Amino acid sequence: MKRNYERSHELYARAVKLMPGGVNSPVRAFKSVGGEPLYFKSARGSRFTDEDGNEFVDFCQSWGPLILGHSDERVVEAVRRAAFDGLSYGACHAGEIELAELVLQAMPEFERVRFVSSGTEAVMTALRLARGVTGRSHILKFEGGYHGHSDGLLVKSGSGLATLSIASSAGVPDEIARTTLIAPFDDEDAVSEIFQKHGGDIAAIIIEPLPANNGLLEQRLEYLNFLREISRRYGSLLIFDEVISGFRFRFGAYGSGLGVMPDLVTLGKIIGGGLPVGAIVGPAACLDRLAPVGSVYQAGTLSGNPLSLAAGSATLKILRDEPPYDYLEKLGAMFDRAVADELPQHAVSIKRVGSLIWFYPGEKPAPRSTAQIEDAAVRRFNSIYWKLLDAGFYLPPSAYEVLFLSSAHTEGEICGLVRAAAVALREEDGV
Ligand SMILES: Cc1ncc(COP(=O)(O)O)c(C=O)c1O
Repeated sequence: MKRNYERSHELYARAVKLMPGGVNSPVRAFKSVGGEPLYFKSARGSRFTDEDGNEFVDFCQSWGPLILGHSDERVVEAVRRAAFDGLSYGACHAGEIELAELVLQAMPEFERVRFVSSGTEAVMTALRLARGVTGRSHILKFEGGYHGHSDGLLVKSGSGLATLSIASSAGVPDEIARTTLIAPFDDEDAVSEIFQKHGGDIAAIIIEPLPANNGLLEQRLEYLNFLREISRRYGSLLIFDEVISGFRFRFGAYGSGLGVMPDLVTLGKIIGGGLPVGAIVGPAACLDRLAPVGSVYQAGTLSGNPLSLAAGSATLKILRDEPPYDYLEKLGAMFDRAVADELPQHAVSIKRVGSLIWFYPGEKPAPRSTAQIEDAAVRRFNSIYWKLLDAGFYLPPSAYEVLFLSSAHTEGEICGLVRAAAVALREEDGV
């Protein structure tokens, strides 16, 4: 049944007069699924409620930080206590040490961490560090990979492989765009060719070890090992951007779980428990090149903010002491089974790794590289999106984004989503 979104509509009409597109981050504008944003007023566990009083099972969970679901009481209590002691000191406090110890306990392969306020900042700093350490200017990223919105990462490939990168956003100078080389995912030859041409200039390769920002393009383990090997051979650093994957599948980094050791890891999302945070993790020899010890500058008024770090510490302690990972895997496996039972006659290829799910209604198996993503699958996702909302299921409003499961979700909610998708696809496909 069609839901009433009247109040959201009114708020949006006010918002567009105040903020560009009415939003503070573009994907929230619902442009890809064709519609207007909903406005939310409260959230708990797996669910949130919009301003019209509609309740939704939330499969976006703030794009990943909320692995324990919305407003977990233990996290909220930690934030409340921290808030009463001071919202921000702009000075050192014990909460920084607590979260640093937790992060490094989970990632014993490293020795240092620097906290910043977002994933974008973490990646930006990691790249500056790589350039500072190697004395080189270029970085290599992968087509379609998102690593935040800093200038050098808003770049796509132009017509010649890796030689003609162009900005994917207005306002990014060509001089900066040209320092970012781009390779397709899943392609050893392309990376080898780039290194043969530019190896001496490449400060770092940056990749999500499980690319989860443009579909879920799981890479072959041999490919990640190949990146490790070639970066080492040419004296470049390998940076794993684990802003999404860090602490999502295990108490620690996804890459180390696979046995691939990068030089630097960037974190965000989960380690802030729902409040703004980012981090760069690495060996002392590298991280100690940051100011004030070294000459690579980075700073932040709210870096290490006591509220964010309290939320992060509370979250990581729960992930360590009461790991939800088996439960999340169980939920995910239930999703797979429900899809096999309910959607056999529809072309849907669910790509799932643990608690990340790419709902990919394509004709072919879920791809491993950006170029293989089918336009038809994107259109099909968009066409069922509002039907799922009307049925009470909120998915990230873009076919390219993954669904995030949290430990607050239930088996009933998972099966409910798949049933609603079956109804929506049946209507769409006329089956
Ligand atoms: C892999 C990855 N890196 C970096 C970022 C940027 O993080 P933030 O949005 O906190 O700036 C994101 C955001 O989704 C991300 O998924």
